[in-house]
Amino acid sequence: MFVTVFLLLVALCSQMGNGDGGEGAQRPGHVSVIIVGGTGDLAKKYLWQGFFELYINRVSGGNTFSFYGGGLSPAEKATPVLFEILKAVSCSKDVSPERCALLKEQFLRLSQYRQLKTQEDYQDLAKHIKKQLQEEGMTEAGRLFYLSVPAFTYADIAEKINSSCRSANGAWLKVVLEKPFGHDFRSAQVLASQLGSSLKDEEMYRIDHYLGKQVVSNILPFRIKNRKFLDPIWNKHHIERVEVVLKETLDVKGRIPFYDQYGVIRDVMQNHLTEVMMMLTIKLPMNVSSREEVLQNKLQIFSSLLPLGKNQAVIGQYRAYKTEVQQELNKTKDHVSLTPTFAAVLAHIDEARYEGVPILLISGKMLDERVGYARVLFKSDIFCLQNHNSVHCKPKQIVFYFGHGSLKDPAILVSKNLFKPAVTENEWKEVTEHPDVSVLGLPISDYYVQTPIEQREAYAQLISHIFAGRKNNFISTENLLASWALWTPLLSSLASSFPRIYPGGADNGGLLDILLKGKDISYNSRAVIISPDQMGGSSTNGFQVMQGKFRSADMVSAWAEELVERLAADIQEAAEAAVREEGVFHLALSGGSTPLALFHRLSQHHFSFPWRRTHVWMVDERCVPLTELESNFRSLHDHLLQHVRIPYYNIHPMPVQLNQRLCVEEDGGALMYERELGKSVNDTSFHFVMLGVGYDGHTASLFPGGKANELNESLVVLTESPVKPHQRMSLTFGAINRARRVAFLVMGKGKHELITQLSRVKDNPDKWPITAVKPVKGRLVWYIDYDALIG
Ligand code: BG6
Repeated sequence: MFVTVFLLLVALCSQMGNGDGGEGAQRPGHVSVIIVGGTGDLAKKYLWQGFFELYINRVSGGNTFSFYGGGLSPAEKATPVLFEILKAVSCSKDVSPERCALLKEQFLRLSQYRQLKTQEDYQDLAKHIKKQLQEEGMTEAGRLFYLSVPAFTYADIAEKINSSCRSANGAWLKVVLEKPFGHDFRSAQVLASQLGSSLKDEEMYRIDHYLGKQVVSNILPFRIKNRKFLDPIWNKHHIERVEVVLKETLDVKGRIPFYDQYGVIRDVMQNHLTEVMMMLTIKLPMNVSSREEVLQNKLQIFSSLLPLGKNQAVIGQYRAYKTEVQQELNKTKDHVSLTPTFAAVLAHIDEARYEGVPILLISGKMLDERVGYARVLFKSDIFCLQNHNSVHCKPKQIVFYFGHGSLKDPAILVSKNLFKPAVTENEWKEVTEHPDVSVLGLPISDYYVQTPIEQREAYAQLISHIFAGRKNNFISTENLLASWALWTPLLSSLASSFPRIYPGGADNGGLLDILLKGKDISYNSRAVIISPDQMGGSSTNGFQVMQGKFRSADMVSAWAEELVERLAADIQEAAEAAVREEGVFHLALSGGSTPLALFHRLSQHHFSFPWRRTHVWMVDERCVPLTELESNFRSLHDHLLQHVRIPYYNIHPMPVQLNQRLCVEEDGGALMYERELGKSVNDTSFHFVMLGVGYDGHTASLFPGGKANELNESLVVLTESPVKPHQRMSLTFGAINRARRVAFLVMGKGKHELITQLSRVKDNPDKWPITAVKPVKGRLVWYIDYDALIG
């Protein structure tokens, strides 16, 4: 019967051509395709259709086929399910309905369901294939196993294939694997080595379906084809920013048991978006079909990517996710999942060509629209005096549009003010008639547009590559591990971070807007200021605020980055007011690690800060030489003072080192500082004092049991710290409480317990020195980030 079918199809399909050339010259003979998980979602949506297209394109090329849908269910139960799926496959427009009907009938006749559960099932399959080959007098070309099953079963199935289902007589074996390939670097390594004990590297095809998307797989050919235009501008002098974006509108209902363990970074960033980033940034290979060369160029980029830390990512979670998790995982109402459904990550490549070019990767579920694209935005070097709408005044960009969104179809768009791109012949065409839409800020008529001549599904494309043995569109072990090595540290650092909750859809408004600040990324939305009358919770864009007031004083609370921005802005406002009224601003700053982010913020973003009129004082100092790393002044110098234009004579380090010794009472350092203060600061009343809080409730260098009241008489004293270096010099509560504005900055989960305790304790300066801070005439504001506040 096979022979008849084969001959019939050869006759039928001889004019259809062979859709795939490819380097993997194929053995003639019989091919067995086995989809393990053949009645699952992926198989239903894409795989059977992909194999039907393969069948149509290849059957005239000297191969015969049989197709098996494999699964755990018994055949009686699963066979009807499989045939329902198979009935839905379709032909492309260029196949006549009669021919299509016939091809489909043959395809169905060549397909069957087999239970594939035990070792014996695999042995039986092998026997069945052997018998069939003998009966039909066919030689075997190869076996293609497509594992469309959960990844934890891979190693076991690979072992079963290896021990009982390998093809013989030089016929090939190809095993296709779907992500996830591990959960992090370590698990990916373990899985790779388990698979490696059953399968050879060349037998494995790890799918990343983005590499099958026509636009993605044309990025490199496009770059090569348009080399003469791109070479001069594909670098840091011309590229403003690169963005790889995958926005989705759907939620993950029904997929929670998988998704909750993975989240958006593992689900699409570590693989799809990373691969796209690679295509955009790798050095152009001499030979685009050389797998080895492309891989080496990718590894080069992986090794030059700067490490991704917490400051390079923001994460979010759509609001209904929590309930979906509770329902699908049978959790109680108080169960909280930290799995992000949205993330924006900022990467940088530490190479001369791309130095300083931000690469933004963004993806999320339940966003306002479904669209995927990669955009290379170029710097504008033209100043338009009048006609801002003329083409050369508009943004210059190249957009690799994967599909959906306003344009719907996949396309490559090049702004007309850049260059007219060449088109890959035979596969792509230039389009000049457009619907009236805008793409990323430009009307479509402002672009040169090219699209694939014939649109093909990514899976169909990849299935034909697998068959042709074109391995460069698949993920090698080295590639995979390099990608996990990039993402794993970020995933670990985010493991206990709270994602920002977003309502979903258009209601997200500006809540997920991103702000790039140097190498850091944050949400753009401002901190929330809560006044006492808003007690009991309020919301901004649906974002819950936890508390309105702290220890009877005003509180500003936000995520760390926004909080620091807010404090920096408040300090600048106070500085401007003081300079306006008195011509000078006296600012006292404390040490420790918490204020470093504030120092950075002030130095990197507050260019109009009146530094020339600002005097900087120290709240406290450790008795070490000012040049030591432990010195508060040294830290202030390194992180702030050296970056701003402040006159030397406005800087007031504490004199902890006199007569070549450190903090000796008789040397009178404290008194000296007090006098300096008296001379410069009107009424010894600082305009702004910025304080931190220690785990034991100390502030400045005023520690528990330090006789706080006695310290009120002078302005500066020597104190003892319970931790090294023990000796300190510090402003007293007397000095602090004379200030016009006092700010406490408290950040990080580590301070949560302290904040909880402080919210309960009464004033008790001996035990909780911080409770002695009560500005006599000034205002006290607590700046507490959500980590410290909520825990
Ligand atoms: C899959 C992810 O790999 O890619 C899904 O698991 C995601 O969560 C999908 O929706 C996106 O692919 P596409 O082709 O629809 O952009």
